[in-house]
Amino acid sequence: MNLYLVKLIRDSDCISTWFSHMEKIATDAIAESEINCHIIVICGSREFAAAASTGKLRNSRIIFAADLDGSGVNIEAMNVIGYLNLNPTALEGSIGGVIVDGKGELYTKDLGRRLVFAANMAGCAFPGKPLVEATGSLSNFAVSAKLWETSLDGAYVKNCRLLVEKVASFKAPTTERGDYCTNQLGTLEKPKILAIHAGNKATSNSFSLWREAASHLNDMAEIDEISIRNGQVLDCRGCKYEACLHFGENAGCFYGGVMVEKVYPAILKSDVLVLICPNYNDSVSANIMAFINRLTALFRTNDFSRKRIYSIVVSGYSGGDIVAQQIIGAINMNKNFILPPHFAMLETANDPGTALELPGIKERAEAFAHGIISYRIPD
Ligand SMILES: Cc1cc2nc3c(=O)[nH]c(=O)nc-3n(C[C@H](O)[C@H](O)[C@H](O)COP(=O)(O)O)c2cc1C
Repeated sequence: MNLYLVKLIRDSDCISTWFSHMEKIATDAIAESEINCHIIVICGSREFAAAASTGKLRNSRIIFAADLDGSGVNIEAMNVIGYLNLNPTALEGSIGGVIVDGKGELYTKDLGRRLVFAANMAGCAFPGKPLVEATGSLSNFAVSAKLWETSLDGAYVKNCRLLVEKVASFKAPTTERGDYCTNQLGTLEKPKILAIHAGNKATSNSFSLWREAASHLNDMAEIDEISIRNGQVLDCRGCKYEACLHFGENAGCFYGGVMVEKVYPAILKSDVLVLICPNYNDSVSANIMAFINRLTALFRTNDFSRKRIYSIVVSGYSGGDIVAQQIIGAINMNKNFILPPHFAMLETANDPGTALELPGIKERAEAFAHGIISYRIPD
């Protein structure tokens, strides 16, 4: 198997001490593991486009490595994002990870999310926690440095090594039920899908698209829908880590209520989470955000790394990409869910009931449903 290391250095001549260091970390990580994998370096956006246009970057493993100065702008990375936006099958069947090295404290997460979103829309899947970002002070590694009893720099290097290993060795998971998978598509047989929404079922555009997609899943999945009524889920209280851990160990949370009684058990038994998200002020709605924040207690004591996240996002005017990136940040990067290829269905419709009138919508909903049911992580 080939692992492509895509070098997105701000200097167009591609000379970088940081990247040489990164390449050595990746080479050592592979050499010292038992993974059978050949590392190929791609330098800059032109080489990336040339390799992608021959189809080489499909069915492969890819680490995007970008640096940032205080400007927060990396033209090479933006060119790669541009190429991916225009070539929606360029990375079909691939698995990715991202490393962003910043000089300042800002912009690293933003670039990481944009790269993951663009690559995902071009067919690349990402394991949970697929981003290693280094802010200028490295203080974002304080927790892992303490845990591993090492320096901030040591924690940075170790996180990079672990990411390279994770991307290179990522395999089709069995479900928590252990029953992976002998149907004709070689996928999960009857995955358990949990769909979460917070709108008015009778009028919601995003919910109507989910129902259209779900009509194609009928006998192929076990579907559970939970409707979060307005204000029903209180936002996270921000308990101390120890208190949150304590509640989480008992599958609970300080506030209890529907989240603990109904949503936590449903999350634990699900294979796939579908978040149904209208765009509210270029964000998921407050009810969906409260749901995400309140997942924290359960996340502390449970492994979500085999679950997959999908989403339907409907905007009245624009901005679905921003909402999708918010979901990537929260559920894939923070909560460790797998991001399968083409994880989001992004549509624009404003007046109630009009989403189902969009040209080609039934075909897109069917394709979205087929993606959920048919995706298998390549061996
Ligand atoms: C409080 C609120 C904020 C909104 N903010 C945005 C926005 O920032 N951008 C946008 O494109 N549409 C915005 N919209 C429009 C909705 O995204 C749009 O009407 C969508 O179809 C709603 O989906 P739903 O019917 O599933 O709730 C907003 C709607 C509401 C009610």
